[in-house]
Parts: sequence; structure tokens; C-alpha cells
Amino acid sequence: MFASETESYVRALKQVAPQAEIFGAQTLTEAEPHLEEAEIVFAWGLPPAVLARMPRLRWVQWLGAGVDLIVRQTPEDVILTRVVGAFSTVMSEHVFAYLLALRRGIFEMRELQREHIWRRVVGPSLGGQRLGVAGLGSIGAEVARLGRAFGMEVWGLSRTDRGRDVCDRHFLPSAMREFAAGVDALVLVLPATPETTGIVDAEVLSGMREGSILVNVGRGNAIVERDLIAALRQGRPAMTQLDVFEREPLPPESPLWDLPNCYISSHCSGPSEPRLVQAFASENLRRYLHGEPLVGIVDRERGY
Ligand code: GLV
Repeated sequence: MFASETESYVRALKQVAPQAEIFGAQTLTEAEPHLEEAEIVFAWGLPPAVLARMPRLRWVQWLGAGVDLIVRQTPEDVILTRVVGAFSTVMSEHVFAYLLALRRGIFEMRELQREHIWRRVVGPSLGGQRLGVAGLGSIGAEVARLGRAFGMEVWGLSRTDRGRDVCDRHFLPSAMREFAAGVDALVLVLPATPETTGIVDAEVLSGMREGSILVNVGRGNAIVERDLIAALRQGRPAMTQLDVFEREPLPPESPLWDLPNCYISSHCSGPSEPRLVQAFASENLRRYLHGEPLVGIVDRERGY
């Protein structure tokens, strides 16, 4: 078990596997003595090169949804699983917290309060607007479901038919431009793969609607940041909320920090912490020990 908080994970995993030897490590130095022997590693933030030094390794349970940092370095004969389902609620709450705040003018109201100014702020409603969700895995599907609950028309984009049923209209990635041009709020929940890299570029951005909002809670590779900075200065999209970036931490000199229509959060919409992923991790270990199929097996070709 390699993570920044290992204690409660180890306690929970021991309940599932009382016979197993389970070690928690928060640093590489702590992990070092166990590399030779370990058969399974549950990890978040483990430097991927370490896997090559684990001769008995059979299974890696990555404690996050996105495996882009580890997928290429995991040996072919080692199973790689990611967390599926555990982040849907918190991440879609994050998305709608911002969509509602931006549409209804909550940040502006706060500014006015600070200045003791009594002025009505009346923003448009999400209801009746069109939401576009790019990436219709478990998180994207929940964003789509909540969009409908708020009375939005939902468009979805994904590379297969998956998730078609959660949207009113479905697009393939080849139609990204048309998809983005038709929505009032575009939410990206895409994994980082060669296909998603730069999928939102100057051409897509310039076609976005007046007043539109762009949210990215997937991975920073999806947006060409240089193009987005130029586009935000032109007001298309009108506003953006970014949780993920091409480089993280976002360098202090990035112009994104100071753009008034850019709202930044520090890759925290779906944190990998025991509260959210422990139950998933324990259940997958139970399955492994009983020879049952694991949940979240990563397809190496697809990259997620
Ligand atoms: C976080 O970004 C994750 O992939 O879980």
C-alpha cells in the first residue's frame, strides 16, 4: 500500500485479508524493503519506475480514476485496475457547484457584499440550457444525470456507443467541433490518451457559444492551454473552470491565474483519499482473493 495516508487503508484491507502481510508506505524509502516480495500494490502517487523492480508483482490497484501516469510502465503480465464509480458524486457536485455559481452570479454577489453594495444580481438559469459532457464513463454519466435533473438538455460525446442512453444526443470525437459549438456548458471528463490530447484547440474554442462555460475535471492534456488563454481573452468561452492542467502544479507564471474569467481549483474535484476509495479497494481485494473478476481492469490499448 503506497499512498500519503496509508493507515486506514491498511486497517480496512487487513479485514478483508487477515492472512496477508500488508505494509503501508508513504515514501519510497519505506517501500524499498518490500519491493522484492510484494505481489500486489495498491498505490497512488507511486513513481512508476518502481514497478520494474518488483519481480513478484501480479496486480496494481491504482487508487485513482485516471491511470495515465502508470499505464505504460505496468508490465504486460501484471493486471492494472483503476477506481471506477467512487468519484462520480463528488466530481459532479464540483462541476455543478461551479456551473450554478457562475450562472447565478454567486462570486459577484460575494464581491458586492465585501464592498457593502446592495445590488441585485440575476443570472440565467441552468434549466433550459444545453449541457455537453465529453467522456461518458461513470463520472460523465453522473454529470449528465444531474444536468437533466437541473432541466438541461444533455449532449454527450464518447468514442463508443457507451453512455448514449444518458444523453439526448450523442457525438463521436470526430464531431467535437459541432458538439462544442452547440452547447452552453461544456464539461470535459476525458481520460488522458493520445486521442484526447489537444481535442479542445483554437478551432473548437472559437466555435463555442457566446456566454458559454468550459469546465475541465478530466485531464489537462485535453485542452491546448495556449489556445485557451487566447480564447478567454476574446471571451469565447465566456468563463472556464479548470481543475486539471497541462502541467501540475500550474506554474505561478501561467496567465490563467490572473484571467478574470478563469476559475482555478488545484486538481481536487475527486481526491484519492480513503473516505472515497477505501470501499472500492477492499472489495477488489476480496474479489482477487476469491478468484472473482476484478472491477476497473484497464484496457492497455485504450489506456483507461
Ligand atoms: C485523479 O485525478 C484520479 O485520476 O483519480
